[in-house]
Amino acid sequence: MASKSDKAFYLTTPIYYVNDAPHIGHAYTTVAGDVMTRWHRLAGEKVWFLTGTDEHGQKVLRTAQANNVAPQTWADNLVRDAWLPVLQTIDAANDDFIRTTQDRHTTRVQTFLTKLKDLGFIYEGSYEGPYCVGCEEFKLPGDLLSGEGDTQLCPIHSKPVELVSETNWFFKLSAFTERLISHYEKNPKAIRPESAYNEVMSFLRSGLQDLSISRSTFDWGIKVPWDDSQVVYVWFDALLNYATAVGLGDDPTSAGGQKFEDTWPADVHLVGKDILRFHAVIWPAMLMAGSLDLPGCVFAHGWLLVGGEKMSKSKLTGISPESIVNLIGSDAFRYYFMRAIIFGQDRSFSWEDLHARYTSELANGLGNLASRVQAMVGKYFDGKLPAAGAHTPAETLIVELLEKTVATTDKAIREFDFQTGIVSVKDFIDAVNLYVTEQEPWVVAKDEKNNERLGTILYTICEALRAIAVLYQPIMPKSMDLLWSQIGAVESGLVQSLNEVGRWGQLKAGVTITKGETMFPRIEEPETI
Ligand code: MSP
Repeated sequence: MASKSDKAFYLTTPIYYVNDAPHIGHAYTTVAGDVMTRWHRLAGEKVWFLTGTDEHGQKVLRTAQANNVAPQTWADNLVRDAWLPVLQTIDAANDDFIRTTQDRHTTRVQTFLTKLKDLGFIYEGSYEGPYCVGCEEFKLPGDLLSGEGDTQLCPIHSKPVELVSETNWFFKLSAFTERLISHYEKNPKAIRPESAYNEVMSFLRSGLQDLSISRSTFDWGIKVPWDDSQVVYVWFDALLNYATAVGLGDDPTSAGGQKFEDTWPADVHLVGKDILRFHAVIWPAMLMAGSLDLPGCVFAHGWLLVGGEKMSKSKLTGISPESIVNLIGSDAFRYYFMRAIIFGQDRSFSWEDLHARYTSELANGLGNLASRVQAMVGKYFDGKLPAAGAHTPAETLIVELLEKTVATTDKAIREFDFQTGIVSVKDFIDAVNLYVTEQEPWVVAKDEKNNERLGTILYTICEALRAIAVLYQPIMPKSMDLLWSQIGAVESGLVQSLNEVGRWGQLKAGVTITKGETMFPRIEEPETI
């Protein structure tokens, strides 16, 4: 059996509803998870990155019915045609993809549910109250907005809620109020950012009600094992994916049990702020009831907005990831969303801002630096990396700045502050570009006596690019892998790793520096938003 020191860094995204195709809001969460897990992998850590789809419930059922297909067929088609392909589009390196209609999920959910019932945490009762099918959530009166006449609206979907009146199975959520409060008081970093922590704490302090965890008026869901007339409430089913995907409840000696030992508890559940309470209240209470360890952290990020509201397909404001990736490529897509938005805050999407940053930071900043040095090594040294001579204060500055950049970036990214992490690398690139401008290698090259000095300058730029190709690798894997080989790192026998990135002087003199395809070709200014 694996000792806990072998435990993987385990990160999850929400599992996405298959009522429609993904938009950039969904891609945003997955990219953030992918950047974070690639960062940990590049540091040599064991990692497990899970994403997937949430396929049961009324929302998916109604969409399938509206399209005259069986819900399973609808889900199969959408997963095949949209949700799996989008992972390629945004270049996500997930380790697993769970679908809640898979047997590995449904059987483990049933076993877990039976266990909670046997332990006395589930009882039969009747539910009457408002329900939003868009959120798949039983709403509290205080959650709603007033619509026309007597109607009450879901504040997220701006649609009338429906009145549900059913005999259902209930989970004793209220029994966990005090334990949850005390857990979060002891672990203030278990919900981030701080605003999300405060929101959950005040919600908990107002007291919890028991939760209806089954539905009887439709049958698109996992059957309650002891009651054929009910299916499991879609959120109770969905939240369990994080544990069923890694072998929840399996015999410890089996492959599933071993996987669970290696992965559980999750280190990070990344979620949008709309689904924070499910993850920071209901989910840990379910785990407490089942005597399972609690996740390290739930991080609630903000929304991509359109016209001040959450971008959504149901409001026809969804922008597809492909529409942007086809224009600027997956790397620039990933870079833009991680760089422009403070993780945890809302932000309107703007083509102008995307275009401006792409041009100044990627095409002009990094792309230009790489192509200039590649051209100069080609011209002055026949494409072979020259050796560096003695450092002047200008080189010492770059070497020292790299050390600081590595420390700042590592700390920021591990703390989910993607923007600070990226800006610190960008500032380093700006400093190297300034170094090139000030050292004027094209002037130094005019006199052969200066050959050693010219070599030092060009070597310094290439070494800086070697480090950048590592620091930006989790954010822009394709172009940084390309850059890595173009600047001779492969030929130098180096392996990309965060642990070694700040050590100066790793490229070997004499390796070939190639000028390949432009990493970030210029793009036209968009005409419309
Ligand atoms: N199926 C549930 C989650 C179950 S997890 C056990 C669900 N699915 S969803 O498809 O509606 O949304 C999932 C996630 O997509 C959100 O939590 C958020 O991470 C992301 N986003 C959806 N729209 C978004 C924006 N407009 N902006 C940013 N993220 C958004 O909820």
